[in-house]
Amino acid sequence: MSVAIIVGSQWGDEGKGKIVDYLSENTDIVVRFQGGANAGHTIVLNGKQYILHLIPAGILRKNTECVIGNGVVIDPIAFKQEINMLKENGVDVNGRLFISENANIILPSHKAIDIQKEKKISIAIGTTGRGIGPAYTDKISREGIRVYDIKNESVLRSKIQNHLEESNLLLKNYYNDLNGINVDEELEKTFEHCKFLLPFVKNTTQYLNDAIGSNKNIILEGAQGSLLDIDHGTYPFVTSSNPTSGGACTGAGISPTKINKVIGITKAYCTRVGNGPFPTEQINNEIGRTLSQRGFEFGSTTGRPRRCGWLDLVALKYSVMINGITEIVLTKLDVLDEFDEIKIATKYVFNNEKTDVFPVNDCAAVIPEYTTLKGWEKNIVGVNNFNALPIEAKNYIKFIEEYVKVPITIISTGPDRKDTIVV
Ligand code: GDP
Ligand code: IMO
Ligand code: MG
Repeated sequence: MSVAIIVGSQWGDEGKGKIVDYLSENTDIVVRFQGGANAGHTIVLNGKQYILHLIPAGILRKNTECVIGNGVVIDPIAFKQEINMLKENGVDVNGRLFISENANIILPSHKAIDIQKEKKISIAIGTTGRGIGPAYTDKISREGIRVYDIKNESVLRSKIQNHLEESNLLLKNYYNDLNGINVDEELEKTFEHCKFLLPFVKNTTQYLNDAIGSNKNIILEGAQGSLLDIDHGTYPFVTSSNPTSGGACTGAGISPTKINKVIGITKAYCTRVGNGPFPTEQINNEIGRTLSQRGFEFGSTTGRPRRCGWLDLVALKYSVMINGITEIVLTKLDVLDEFDEIKIATKYVFNNEKTDVFPVNDCAAVIPEYTTLKGWEKNIVGVNNFNALPIEAKNYIKFIEEYVKVPITIISTGPDRKDTIVV
């Protein structure tokens, strides 16, 4: 029996979807614990690509159950679209997909406010526009609509109506959004969308803890990445939840004493979508372009180009610390195939002093110092045996392990489930 937390150790898009799917083979239950449809988790199976935003990446394994936990903010429209996408691809979710009664619901008004807020502030965060911040704001101020409320039609209707009316005042009078929302129209639509969730609703906290009591294997699937954490990330350029391992416990209702391992998914270089500091970013140069092109670095949710840069071990060491990462999965190693030299940030210069401590509130002001390793300049796409990796690739892996003092247990060399090395 094992309860494993999987977190993104960087700024998201590390390849969590691929790895959760890979590890789900021997897993009874996969749980999303935070975030919402801002996530885009890609799985490639026999050449076919699936992008999941809300439904856990265990769903393609027909014997695996999936839970959308209490910490998630759920957009019923996005959920329905995803169910339909899976249906069209012959994936049956009946009886093995559950939503926590305590999860909060994202309304069209949350999305509208998210978009207007971004237009109004001086430096936009670059959100995904999926209503995440406004929905968590309502949750924390105890004004949210919870999945539990769907059980009582009159309560649900009046809560939706109150929310839409209040948001409309804000949109029209504060954000000068002349169209606002058509409350009558949106009320009926939102009400119907919410009712679609009803067959999936469950007391998932009890269900998960009973499963742990029966020695089931559970994966808690993080969305976003540690450096986007509302508390520990590069605030305010963060998301509105805790993608770090602590968020898995609160977001699923599982105690820290039940967790056996914390797996950090780490891309072999760094990317970031949206605004905010990124010390090792390679802007307007051949390195950045090669990483972007070879890694096909475009957002799985919004299609925006991702900013690219070298691997940052100062940041990774911080991520290992705040998550308690016990093992690392290194993804997209193949993207580095063409480089004759590969750089890794091993120190920062901050205030004229060298440091290997990540200054989370000042990382826009640091200058990274790099160690240069020899590249392998060979094609490793799809390699699935550790011994077949070139010596330079093995050295790169060893260098990371020795710096962060955490073993790399899995290496990914391509998007497909089969392009995976278990060390
Ligand atoms: P997530 O949000 O962490 O699940 O990551 P995304 O799915 O947003 O982005 C990862 C992208 O890289 C997807 O397009 C994956 O199909 C792809 N990918 C995952 N692992 C590998 C790998 O090892 N090599 C390559 N070339 N692509 C990968
Ligand atoms: P996955 O799970 C990468 C980023 C946005 C923006 C910031 C806040 O696929 O790794 P939000 O819409 O959450 O309020 O946006 O967070 N962001 C992500 N970046 N991967 C993600 O998810 C992200 N989800 C949000 O780009 O900078
Ligand atoms: Mg993604």
